Amino acid sequence: MIALPHSVAEIGYLVASGCFIVGLKRLGSPATAVSGNQLSAWGMAIAIVVTLLAGNILEWWQIGLGLVLGGGIGLWMAKTVQMTGMPQMVAILNGFGGASSLLVGGAEFLKAELANQVIPTETGIVIQLSLLIGAVTLTGSVIAWAKLQEVMSGQAITYPLQKAINALLFVAITGLATYQITTPDAHLAPFYAVIGLSLVLGVLLVIPIGGADMPVVIALLNSYSGVAAAMTGFVINNHVLIIAGALVGSSGIILTRIMCKAMNRSLANVLFGAFGANAGALPGGKSAAGLTVRTVSPEDAAIQLAYAQSVIVVPGYGLAVAQAQHVVRELAELIEKNGGEVKYAIHPVAGRMPGHMNVLLAESNVPYDRLYDMDEINPQFDTCDVALVIGANDVVNPAARSDPASPIYGMPILDVDRARSIIVMKRGMSAGFAGIENELFYHPKTTMLFGDAKASLTKLVSEIKAL
Ligand code: TAP
Repeated sequence: MIALPHSVAEIGYLVASGCFIVGLKRLGSPATAVSGNQLSAWGMAIAIVVTLLAGNILEWWQIGLGLVLGGGIGLWMAKTVQMTGMPQMVAILNGFGGASSLLVGGAEFLKAELANQVIPTETGIVIQLSLLIGAVTLTGSVIAWAKLQEVMSGQAITYPLQKAINALLFVAITGLATYQITTPDAHLAPFYAVIGLSLVLGVLLVIPIGGADMPVVIALLNSYSGVAAAMTGFVINNHVLIIAGALVGSSGIILTRIMCKAMNRSLANVLFGAFGANAGALPGGKSAAGLTVRTVSPEDAAIQLAYAQSVIVVPGYGLAVAQAQHVVRELAELIEKNGGEVKYAIHPVAGRMPGHMNVLLAESNVPYDRLYDMDEINPQFDTCDVALVIGANDVVNPAARSDPASPIYGMPILDVDRARSIIVMKRGMSAGFAGIENELFYHPKTTMLFGDAKASLTKLVSEIKAL
């Protein structure tokens, strides 16, 4: 078969890179996100086809087998994954990205070694970086997946001198890599040691982080997988890999920053703070100050909602757990039919992954223009008849504004307590991710509708229909 000329391949890579950049830009708004995703997928398809036609490949049957196997597994994973299982799927895909960089970097090194070629210093550096970052991403992502999948405990695992041991390991890896780069006739031992120690480092870096902080870690590992891919791009001199890796690396770190900012925590606090490790149930019904909650029946809540002029729905993690996104849309349509207006208030870290609420509500075809960011919706709570909080807790906790001793103090929240009345839907008095009490539940304007969010919403829908 005739290989594609180099210049044509480079043009193909340029087109693919353009698709990635424009696709990424389009992911910035829910209205254009689907087409952005498709454009990026086309970019990837172009990059793959160009790479295959440009030569330097294995046998076609091997590639075909890989495509069928990998594509089949990917399709099965995408079709079967539950919405609540998305973070762990992203985690494991990041791990595969890291593994690819590790394998390609390692193969290029061994190829040169076997052919007795001297590896130029700059190539040696990027090979070692591919190995280090790829291996850390691989095992770090596997641990993140295991914590989220509850294959291992989500608790932060800590022990004495943890940070010092990690630092020592990093110094050892750097030393071995430097020796390998600067010693042309070095044996393969340092090469394998760099891989082995980097794999261990990935595990050790992620085990001290609590399961609930995994979304931030996943965004960070996503960034690492991009950097590892970019390094591999330099190793094999592939421009599209460098560009795509740089895009993934930078967008991952931007996302990490956005999440940390939305939680008012530093990255160091997420990585070393063992936050949320003690989250659990709080004593039912009574606050620490001895306040009690008021409950509401589905019948009374339905009357309140049916005659409200303005309702703001505040979705949280519980909505995702209950898979109640379709029923919530049905409820909103009924309120609108009765002449009320329904808006959705989206907190940037509601749920357990970036954009969790947007994805859920888009799945049930809630129009994008009903979704409001925190800054847009907060001034509107003052004039809202009913704020309907569905499975949200920390993102509506007024302690973030008023209690300097609270672990979430300073985190921007949705100002639900400013609404004229508040209905909170949750199963019991369990704490949210931060493991702390929420004074909103004891507020004189608040009534609690206890039960699984989907079951409660279904009751509300049938009550309103019966009015
Ligand atoms: P949370 O504060 O975690 O609270 C969720 C609430 O949902 C719980 O109190 C739980 O109470 C309730 N719930 C669970 N299952 C339910 C069901 N089936 N039906 C009804 N209610 C149910 O959620 P949030 O307000 O969305 O806040 C998210 C938290 O996660 C924040 O602290 C945020 O910092 C953190 N976090 C988010 C991210 C991203 S990127 N989204 C990343 C890292 C950390 P019951 O058990 O009593 O029902």
